[in-house]
Amino acid sequence: MTLLAGENILKQYSDYIIFEEMSFSIGDNDRIGLVGPNGIGKTTLFEIMTGNISPDQGKIVKPKSSLIGYVEQEIIGHDNTILIDFVATAREDLLKLKADIDRIAHELEENPESHKTLEKLGNYQHRFETEGGYAFESEIKIILAGLGFPRDRFQSRMSSFSGGEKNRASLARLLAGRSNLLLLDEPTNHLDIESTIWLEEYLKSLNKAYIIVSHDRTFLANTIDKVWEITSKKIDQYFNGFDKFLVEREERRRLKRHIFKHQQDEIRQIEYFIRKNMAGQKTKQAQSKQKYLERMEKFDLPESEQIGPSFTVEAGQRSHNLVLAIEDASFGYGHRPLLSDVNLNIYRGDRIGLIGVNGSGKTTILKTILGEV
Ligand SMILES: Nc1ncnc2c1ncn2[C@@H]1O[C@H](COP(=O)(O)OP(=O)(O)O)[C@@H](O)[C@H]1O
Ligand SMILES: [Mg+2]
Repeated sequence: MTLLAGENILKQYSDYIIFEEMSFSIGDNDRIGLVGPNGIGKTTLFEIMTGNISPDQGKIVKPKSSLIGYVEQEIIGHDNTILIDFVATAREDLLKLKADIDRIAHELEENPESHKTLEKLGNYQHRFETEGGYAFESEIKIILAGLGFPRDRFQSRMSSFSGGEKNRASLARLLAGRSNLLLLDEPTNHLDIESTIWLEEYLKSLNKAYIIVSHDRTFLANTIDKVWEITSKKIDQYFNGFDKFLVEREERRRLKRHIFKHQQDEIRQIEYFIRKNMAGQKTKQAQSKQKYLERMEKFDLPESEQIGPSFTVEAGQRSHNLVLAIEDASFGYGHRPLLSDVNLNIYRGDRIGLIGVNGSGKTTILKTILGEV
């Protein structure tokens, strides 16, 4: 079944064309990685898919049964809601059923003899159960824990969370919802490694289609089957996972270079013939070759190989090889050290990944190195 399709999409901002003659189709089992350099149009494509922005030409076809889930940039108007209730708004249908059940239960208390009310309560409870109401409540807790929220924050108000935490809460709500197509724009940005791994597993276990934009190649390799690369204002599809995509793309580029070079050779030969013969006995032939050249469909080099700007940076005087030494240090605030007995040398050229669960002290270490703490 097709969940969403785009036909001949054109989208431009003033006179800059982002997409042209772009078409796509998403099936209900598709797990797609959407890739391309910054500014190429990945977020714009998501916004077109959700209908938040309209294409300038072409159309989006969305069957009634398709429910698209997309994390809005900002959560608006939930300051007083507690976290777990915020996530529960993913299923307004269940919330309404629950409210109905509470109301009918109240009616029954007032009027305990009413068989009709009792029967109604039974019906509603049954519906709540078959719609997955009870399972939903435990599912929310699993998702929140998976995304790194400690249990004692489940009841905290949304206003007490940081921007990154709110973003995680939105992701939780998206996962808890009923949409059958998820559009995930950098979902791991606010996740630590534990939560990222949890999300990989969770997505794989879902029976839903999704499209992921992510800078995290391992995350992509672990979650997607297809790659859509935005290039030349269209989508190039690859069908064999992320690792093979990198190999296959190189293959396609090599082929493109090859075809391009051949065509350039042909063009040069024809141009030479035309120059030589335009004014001589073979004028007619030269003219027809001229026409052929004009009508020829010209190939381009792969976009990645078109020549862009280049930069050089003049290095200053080199300093000593040892850039930073940390000796017997503790990191933390006041009398509460987050880490102690740290010994570490950092040398010129070192490239270090600082990892650890949220709240373990990564930012504190950086701030201490900067002298802010
Ligand atoms: N509202 C807008 N008005 C004008 N240009 C925009 C607007 N939104 C995005 N763009 C431009 O469209 C291009 C694609 O942007 P975007 O979809 O955000 O790329 P990506 O998500 O791949 O980084 C960029 O050149 C960006 O500057
Ligand atoms: Mg983007």
